[in-house]
Amino acid sequence: MKAVAVFPGTREVTIIEREAPRISQPDQVELRMLDIGICGTDKEICSFDYGTPPAGDDFLVIGHEALAEIVKVGSAVTRLRPGDLVVPSVRRPCPHPGCLACRTGHQDYCYTGDFTERGIKEAHGYMAEYIVDYERNMTLVPPGLREIAVLAEPLTIAEKALTQIFWTMQQRPPWLDPDTPSQQRGEGLSALVLGIGPVGLLGAMTLASAGFTTYVYSRELPPSPRIDLVDAIGATYVSSQATTFADLAEKMDNIDLIYEAVGHSHFALQALQVLGTNGIYVLTGVPGPQAFIEADPARLMRDLVLKNQVLLGTVNAGPDAFAAALRDLHLFRQRWPAVVRTLIAGRYPPEQAPELVLGRPAGIKSVITFEQGGQAR
Ligand code: BGC
Ligand code: ZN
Repeated sequence: MKAVAVFPGTREVTIIEREAPRISQPDQVELRMLDIGICGTDKEICSFDYGTPPAGDDFLVIGHEALAEIVKVGSAVTRLRPGDLVVPSVRRPCPHPGCLACRTGHQDYCYTGDFTERGIKEAHGYMAEYIVDYERNMTLVPPGLREIAVLAEPLTIAEKALTQIFWTMQQRPPWLDPDTPSQQRGEGLSALVLGIGPVGLLGAMTLASAGFTTYVYSRELPPSPRIDLVDAIGATYVSSQATTFADLAEKMDNIDLIYEAVGHSHFALQALQVLGTNGIYVLTGVPGPQAFIEADPARLMRDLVLKNQVLLGTVNAGPDAFAAALRDLHLFRQRWPAVVRTLIAGRYPPEQAPELVLGRPAGIKSVITFEQGGQAR
């Protein structure tokens, strides 16, 4: 079968031929891969800044955002049947008996760092015709979401973050009554999203649909389909090339929430200076090595303390976030059908993966498909 792999030794990204995997445990399922999204992490892996092949291999099959169809199930599989659509999760637990997080199924909170991530860290990914994995790592997808379910994984980042944000807000009365319906939880609060890539845009959609007055701040200048998307969901786009952080803060009044989705440390630090009183700052980007800069930590510390601010990092996600992502994709499509149609820029055959991963992203999300006729859909 075909797969797309990166060879760090020879610095190559190419199509390889591999033997198709087979079910070897009763609780495993075999998947035929339908769609695999390309993201910034793949770009970093293919620029050899990030990612590690499995022990003993000189290559890593990439791909961690996927939608697949079950083709075979092991004898102990109870929830899934051939023909079902599923989204597989990314992270697998570390082996250490003492890791409370991994031993309780919360490997996104792994203490030891010895977890693996499919398509990223020491485990082959999903950009292949077939894969085998355990039933417990699958979230069932309603057939009606076939066209967009590949976006579930990148959306889980926002879903996990939002759970944490609302939890924090509930601990701070009178901010949030736990009985508030999810679409009203952000009412009266302002949110600033940093970055206009897929993670930023999906984050903005999540925040806007939770009722936050949402702003998106990035370098991009109009005209741009991404800026059109921000407008279409009722959020406000502001370009950093035209407006400084200080001006933005004045415009937004108290900034209650910042959702960082750029992975640029200098930009992220500048934003921290405009976080409002009782504000929560969520970091989702993973920066590579970047130049050192001068900072004023005393001022940041003073603000964090005197304004009760929360600084929160978040990575990966668990089953609840996957389920929430699928619910929200359905909701987004009901609320903004035209926007949702533009999220997937195109579907391309695996042969085009290397150029797509290494090139500049054209639309919002490029998807590799192993089904015939790539672009057709
Ligand atoms: C993936 C996460 C992963 C993170 C760090 C992201 O692109 O969506 O699942 O944990 O990269 O490797
Ligand atoms: Zn990703």
